Amino acid sequence: MGKKFLWGSATASYQCEGAWNEDGRGLSIWDEFSHHSDKNINNVTGDIASNHYHQFEEDIRMMKEGGQNSYRFSIAWPRILPKGKGDVNQKGIDFYHRMIDCLLKNGIEPNVTLYHWDLPLPLQEKGGWENEETAYAFAEYARICFSEYGDKVKLWVTINEPHYSITSMYGAGNYPPNVKDGQRCIKAAYITMLASALAVKEFRKFSNIGQIGIVHDASPCYGVDDSKETQFAVRMADNLFNNWVLEPTMRGVFPQDMLDELAKYYDLSFMKKENSEIFKSGTLDFIGINYYSRSFIRSYTEGESYIGVNNTGIKSAVDQPLMVMKGMFEQIKDPGGEFTDWDMEIYPQGMYDTLRQIRQRYGDVPIYITENGVGLYEKLKDGRVEDDGRIDFLSKHIKEMLRAKEDGANICGYYVWSTFDLYSWVNGYKKRYGLVYVDFEDDNRRIPKKSYYWYRDFIRSNNNKNWGIEQ
Ligand code: NOJ
Repeated sequence: MGKKFLWGSATASYQCEGAWNEDGRGLSIWDEFSHHSDKNINNVTGDIASNHYHQFEEDIRMMKEGGQNSYRFSIAWPRILPKGKGDVNQKGIDFYHRMIDCLLKNGIEPNVTLYHWDLPLPLQEKGGWENEETAYAFAEYARICFSEYGDKVKLWVTINEPHYSITSMYGAGNYPPNVKDGQRCIKAAYITMLASALAVKEFRKFSNIGQIGIVHDASPCYGVDDSKETQFAVRMADNLFNNWVLEPTMRGVFPQDMLDELAKYYDLSFMKKENSEIFKSGTLDFIGINYYSRSFIRSYTEGESYIGVNNTGIKSAVDQPLMVMKGMFEQIKDPGGEFTDWDMEIYPQGMYDTLRQIRQRYGDVPIYITENGVGLYEKLKDGRVEDDGRIDFLSKHIKEMLRAKEDGANICGYYVWSTFDLYSWVNGYKKRYGLVYVDFEDDNRRIPKKSYYWYRDFIRSNNNKNWGIEQ
């Protein structure tokens, strides 16, 4: 039986739900950060966000009217288990039943992420992702979700962007718990991957429950030249940006040359031998790819390791190089590149290259583009948002995705980030990604942007093409 290509859009719980203290929800690290941290530079919270908790029926109706046949969203761990483990909050469980039922009633396939960064605060207080107990708590939380929703949800994701989130939390230090420490960073990265593998182990105990994958922020790495030194730098960047997520989830092991190199600078004794069986049996059914940008790499010159980020929304506000990994590589901006106000390079060909690379490495594994989109400053003008920049971005990237599909990549779906405007983490609300404008000043009124109609018409005109996939 052929299965339909999925054309959808995506959100994440903390970024859109609001209702932070309703119906028994516990606190997450982002509540603590947005309420209390001086690193919350935009001084906003997700307390109300896009009010999706109360407006999800309207949002789902708009997805349907927009021709979308799938919605990627995440479950808030603190709604299900307010303390991270132990007592289950029935009202939280019921909320996602209502959401999933509403999607199914509207013919929209749910694609559910278990962890999109809202780690329960009580777990952070016991060490968070630096403590193996968190990985086991995650597996327990995952089991509860599988058993509650497994008969309705056929696409599951363990963790959203382990690479990006952990390096922001422990490398760049702009995400809570706001740490800048390479040693702690690689340990947290390892435990996050362990958590994914443990959740998969739980998943395999269920039958007829669908497929499970991970969502990776793919960043194809390009060298400034073709020299031997640059090739080494590119390989190391590729290991740290991509392979340490994709290799354990596809093959059950970490890349050996990455471990050899890291061992020169860090203590890797936290990587316990007895966990290797867990990784081997924790491989996944599909890869979710979030594609936003590429990485431009040169060889290491000097100085200590660091990661820079631009959360200001002022172009070029960030120093060069963007990132240094001592002894391994440096990441810089391509002087000829096109960049957004947040210094993200717009590079559609990277979509094609990353998909081709995945096919070369992992064969016919099903791939979903779980996020793709662009953050812009936007204002309502005469009641409308003419976001031609987004239409241009999306159409170029979709074209590259379809080119990869024609060349044989097993792509099964595509999701625009984001369904509607929402809280963009440290960037707050001024960096908008939505197909639908949310008027945060006017009761969270929803106003479809020009891109919403463009996407609807694009899906319509492509529905009669043969996007059928056999699974
Ligand atoms: C990827 C993340 O999954 C999402 O939470 C974030 O808002 C977007 N990137 C845009 O930066």
